[in-house]
Amino acid sequence: MKIIVHREKCQGHARCWAMAPDIFELDDEGYIMPGDIDVPEEQERLAWMGAKSCPERALDIQK
Ligand code: F3S
Repeated sequence: MKIIVHREKCQGHARCWAMAPDIFELDDEGYIMPGDIDVPEEQERLAWMGAKSCPERALDIQK
């Protein structure tokens, strides 16, 4: 599974990171790091919850 990161939509809510800090990395200003994220199978559930928690819909799930 892959998370497609729409960096331009990120407003720095950090909910993704709060849910799964090992998957979602933030920059020094609290915005998601640009670049899509490859998620290992055992972390898919957490990644899914983190992506869904973004109020800006900046994180899309690709299976
Ligand atoms: Fe940004 Fe959404 Fe995470 S606004 S920091 S991608 S919760």
